[in-house]
Amino acid sequence: MRATKAVIDLKAVEHNLSVVKTLAPKSNVMAVLKANAYGHGLANVARAIPQQEAIAVACMDEAEILRSSGVKNEIILLEGFFSEEELKQVVELELQTVVHQDSQVNQLEKLSEDSSTNPKIVVWLKYDSGMNRLGFDEQSYTEAFNRIQKLQAVKEIRFMSHLACADDIHDPMTSIQLKSFTQLIAGLKGDRSLANSAGVIAWPETHFEWVRPGIILFGCSPLLGVSGEAHQLKPAMTLQSQLFAIKNLAPGDTVGYGASWQAKSNTRIGVIAIGYGDGYPRHAKEGTPVLINGKEYPLVGKVSMDMITVDLGIDDDFELGDVATLWGQGLPVEKIAHFADTIPYTLFCGVTSRVKFEWYD
Ligand SMILES: Cc1ncc(COP(=O)(O)O)c(C=O)c1O
Repeated sequence: MRATKAVIDLKAVEHNLSVVKTLAPKSNVMAVLKANAYGHGLANVARAIPQQEAIAVACMDEAEILRSSGVKNEIILLEGFFSEEELKQVVELELQTVVHQDSQVNQLEKLSEDSSTNPKIVVWLKYDSGMNRLGFDEQSYTEAFNRIQKLQAVKEIRFMSHLACADDIHDPMTSIQLKSFTQLIAGLKGDRSLANSAGVIAWPETHFEWVRPGIILFGCSPLLGVSGEAHQLKPAMTLQSQLFAIKNLAPGDTVGYGASWQAKSNTRIGVIAIGYGDGYPRHAKEGTPVLINGKEYPLVGKVSMDMITVDLGIDDDFELGDVATLWGQGLPVEKIAHFADTIPYTLFCGVTSRVKFEWYD
């Protein structure tokens, strides 16, 4: 059987959450588990988040998965509700919602007028402090606040914004966003949230009452050029497969599609059962490390759909079936992301359904 699997260490998630709590000791945590918990498995990862912490997801489908698997934590919809129907589900599933545009305020007003059920919603009013993606600008923020605070259907208004450049500790944008957010809500009473993982680690002044860590929970550093180990984080996902064929090559022999790699001397090529059909990055460069028996070997040749090839050199202490680690324990995903010109987020989210997932508490 093809041994390609993602092993998810839920203890590592718990550990990483404890690192967040140490870094932001006065803040509540909203664990960001959108996109299937960054590809780690939403309902299973939620088990590692204690009930007193909140969980943030992108959309209703994700919130439904959590509620239907018995998750009782506070759940926040980061993109808010997309329709009146969804607003009703916010009430039914007892969710909290981000409100970032007028159409949502209109729908909240309508709900307040129509409602016989007396809903009590917690709204996170989102300010666009510079990301220019979601959120109200200064003037419309105050207007939206004034409209929402009158509504019966709204129990509480909380304040949030999102940082665009916090991964770069030298970028002045974070201080500008912080200042603008703080000034805007000065004098308003309510919980505040600004920090993503990078904010948690590098910008303590952004912690406020709630931090919103995502990638850090899975063991990665959000900071440019830094790996999770530097913050005592542990990798939650280890992507593994096995060595299932070995080829002897003579000088001049080539490997794979396009014959892009050529042996300079006698060598052995190891074939590993993983490819872009499993989510291994197609653009991983020659030299991307693969860990076999505790040693890193370089990727050579093009990544295929189901296989990759590594140069084993003249080592011969291999057996077919030896475990190959693509990232995770012993091989930081940040390193692979670097070789593939991408970020760990896309590697995690890109692991496909062909890969078997195993979760360990
Ligand atoms: C609104 C919001 N908050 C927090 C996060 C968590 O970000 P990170 O994974 O960088 O911690 C995200 C993720 O993109 C987000 O969209």
